[in-house]
Amino acid sequence: MARLRLGVLLSGRGSNLRALLDACADPAYPAEIVLVISDRAEAPGLTLAAAAGISGVVIPSRARPAFAAEVGTLLRDQRVDLVCLAGFMRVLDAAFVETWRDRVINVHPSLLPAFPGLHPQRQALAAGVRFAGCTVHFVRPEVDAGPIIAQAVVATRPDDDETSLSARILKVEHRLYPLTVRLIAEGRVRVVAGKVEIDGWRAPKIAALNPCGPPREAPREPLVRHPN
Ligand code: GRF
Repeated sequence: MARLRLGVLLSGRGSNLRALLDACADPAYPAEIVLVISDRAEAPGLTLAAAAGISGVVIPSRARPAFAAEVGTLLRDQRVDLVCLAGFMRVLDAAFVETWRDRVINVHPSLLPAFPGLHPQRQALAAGVRFAGCTVHFVRPEVDAGPIIAQAVVATRPDDDETSLSARILKVEHRLYPLTVRLIAEGRVRVVAGKVEIDGWRAPKIAALNPCGPPREAPREPLVRHPN
C-alpha cells in the first residue's frame, strides 16, 4: 500500500520531526515525510530535514492568509496527505484549517483541554496537577483545540521545574506522535460528531496513582485532624 505523504510544519528545534523521521526510516512504517516547511530560516529542524534528504522550505513571516496560501500551494504540489505541526509557532488561517479539515494534526505538551496556549508545562506546575502529559489532536481554528486522537501521561514530581517536566513530556511526545501518525496512515482514525474513533483501539490496563504509596520518611503531623 502507498505510504501516507506527510508535510511537517515547524518553527524550531525539530525533535518531533526527528521522531517522525526515525519512524519513517523503517520501510514497514506506513508514512513518509515529503516536505518540511518552516517559518523561521534558522530553525534547527530544517537542518535535520536536509540531513534526511527532505526538501525544507522557508516561508518567512507574512500576513496569515498569504502565508496559508503559500503553504497550501506547496502541500498540493507535493501531494501531501497529512500535515503534522511539530513545534509550529504560528496560528494557521481559519480558511486553511477548514480546507484541510481532519488532515492537520498537532502535538501539544499538556493533557488538553487543560493548559492550551503558551508554557503549558509551567501552567501545569502552577496548577499543582499530579499528572501532566501531551496530546495529539486534529487542528481547528482555535488555538490548541480540536478532536483529541491520543494522549500520553507523565507523573509530576515534587522537585519538578519547568525544564525537568518538559523533558519528560517531550520523551513521550516522541513516542506518541509517530504512533498517532501510524494509526491515521492505517486508516483507523475517524472523527465522528466531533470526537475521534479509532479502530482496534487498545487502552492500557493501568491506573496510576500519584503519590503512589507510603512515603519513606516518618510521617508529619497531619494538616487536619478531627477535634477530640
Ligand atoms: C513540543 O513540546 C511540542 O509539543 C510543542 O512544541 C514543542 C516542539 O518541540 N508544540 P520540537 O521542536 O519538536 O523539539
